[in-house]
Amino acid sequence: MNARIAVFASGGGSNLQALLSYFDLLGDDAPGRIVLVASDKQGAVALERAKRRNMEALSLDATMRTTGLLALLEARQITLVALAGYLRLVPPEVTKAFRGRMVNVHPALLPSFGGQGMYGHRVHQAVMYTGVRVTGATVHFVDERYDHGAIIAQWPVPVFASDTAETVGIRVLEAEHQLFPRVVAAVASGHIRLEPDGKVAGATPGDRIIFPHFVASDDAGAADAYERFLDTE
Ligand code: GRF
Repeated sequence: MNARIAVFASGGGSNLQALLSYFDLLGDDAPGRIVLVASDKQGAVALERAKRRNMEALSLDATMRTTGLLALLEARQITLVALAGYLRLVPPEVTKAFRGRMVNVHPALLPSFGGQGMYGHRVHQAVMYTGVRVTGATVHFVDERYDHGAIIAQWPVPVFASDTAETVGIRVLEAEHQLFPRVVAAVASGHIRLEPDGKVAGATPGDRIIFPHFVASDDAGAADAYERFLDTE
């Protein structure tokens, strides 16, 4: 299956970079190609990252990110959309057309610390304020509401007494960089899919990765990274 993947980003694009690096690592085994990077921010670093790789880098104006978005994706025969720090709500006609083919990464364990207005540093400030001892990264299918679609995978990340919102954010972003690319690849390959009843199929221990101790069985790199979370103080 050769997915044609579009990545949407509003900011620094470190998750985009993680996707690019992971798909490079997969080489010919990659289940698809990232063919488009789009942003609602003209000067987004994510667009620069795409330009450096001779990939289409599209700055979305108000029409393109709303009434024109579905046609824009169809014209490029996009089969999978990865929201990598994209802060706009995707129009319902697009989330419906891409049901089961659009995923988002969120820097907390949804449904906690999610929803409209909960993004970036605010999420980690809320985590510190509430005193939770575990946070993490979530990758989920996108539906018509912010951070609401079916959860595919989550990596837990410890919160230490010495942490600040900044240090937690850095640790969670590292988890995102490990988890998001693997989930995007698993959805692109069909290993993970959204069933008609809304359940996520394939994200179970028997099928590929997605939870740290299952990662160890087939991906030492991510397992090491996960061990590092547990060790860092
Ligand atoms: C990430 O924390 C992601 O979870 C959230 O936005 C942030 C994007 O960071 N949706 P980057 O642009 O990928 O560095």
